[in-house]
Amino acid sequence: MNLLWGDETLFKNEEVFDPEYLPPTIFHRDTQINDLAISLRPSLSGYAPGHVLCVGPPSTGKTTVVQYVLGKLEEHDVPVVYLRCPILRTSYNVFSKIFEEVCGKVPPQKGVPLFKLLGEIEEHLEGKVLIVALDDINFLPNGVLNEILMTFLKSAGFKVGIIAIAMSKSFIARLKPYLGSIFHFHEIAFPLYTKREIEEILRWRVEHGFYPDVVTEEAFQAIVSLVARNGDIRYGLHLLRNAGKNAERRGSRKIEISDVERAKEGEEMLMLTKSIAALNSDEREALKIIYTLENEEIATGDVFAIMKSEVGLYYERFYEIIGKLERLRFIDLVFGKKGKGRTRYIMRRYDRDTIVKALREI
Ligand SMILES: Nc1ncnc2c1ncn2[C@@H]1O[C@H](COP(=O)(O)OP(=O)(O)OP(=O)(O)O)[C@@H](O)[C@H]1O
Ligand SMILES: [Mg+2]
Repeated sequence: MNLLWGDETLFKNEEVFDPEYLPPTIFHRDTQINDLAISLRPSLSGYAPGHVLCVGPPSTGKTTVVQYVLGKLEEHDVPVVYLRCPILRTSYNVFSKIFEEVCGKVPPQKGVPLFKLLGEIEEHLEGKVLIVALDDINFLPNGVLNEILMTFLKSAGFKVGIIAIAMSKSFIARLKPYLGSIFHFHEIAFPLYTKREIEEILRWRVEHGFYPDVVTEEAFQAIVSLVARNGDIRYGLHLLRNAGKNAERRGSRKIEISDVERAKEGEEMLMLTKSIAALNSDEREALKIIYTLENEEIATGDVFAIMKSEVGLYYERFYEIIGKLERLRFIDLVFGKKGKGRTRYIMRRYDRDTIVKALREI
């Protein structure tokens, strides 16, 4: 048996598994990168480029591609500002962040009128076009969304090229009609990755993140298959890192399929404890009874009888609880088999140990 001693590790560079890590090689996004670069090219000669919307499901490389292209623009002295919208609550937040980036200092004092901030930004830009990326733009509150776009498009005093990034186009419906009619953009779609593409993206991380031959092909393929179910590359990075940690914990020099299984369970447990934490005490009690009963076939009446004697609750309320557990996919409800009339039976969707463990962790 191979044992890992002291601070020996399987990771050559653990950073490549960080979801925020910007990879030097971006796979299968040449079309989007070129499209974005071409749209923004006029800014190199000081002309206002058209606005762009990058749209697609989570984890399809939108943030990665935009940050890559912004980096290239910066190399050509184009001023760029990248903003994560979920942390910006007011228009003032947005413009003071832009001020900070463009002017290289924090705004003079809190509560400086907006036009003053904009004036100083304009001075610093010296006629150059400012490229502003608004990542996860759909998270901006209505007022802020409308106000900042209106400022960029109408009253900023300097030229702005907007790159909006979103999972869907639903934010457009929140624009005031006038704004909706003047905010034109070129759309760049980011489709889900295919299984082959996922494999290539994750293989690069394996090669750069682990020492050679650490990940067995079987374990790697298991991860690729898991990720292919929903296309979430971030999940793949998480599985790779945690499988690596599991193998290290076992003192193994190789990541085997069992390490992947355990990494997957860890993730499942996290999701389960989160959804159980959101249940009230009666709902949790019902879940506990269902998952601790020994019998394979559980009639709803049996669970009701126990619940009634323990917490004294009405039949209607009991059915609400059971319905909720079904909707949350903790259980399935089926009608009794032949000869057993219309008794409803409860089928557990997880193994008993998993839920009992999750209940204990709350
Ligand atoms: N084409 C790619 N090549 C290499 N790595 C990629 C690629 N696409 C995505 N990734 C990696 O997958 C993760 C998610 O990508 P990214 O953050 O760019 O997705 P996103 O589309 O912005 O997702 P969200 O909508 O959830 O913000 C990142 O860690 C990123 O490095
Ligand atoms: Mg993103």
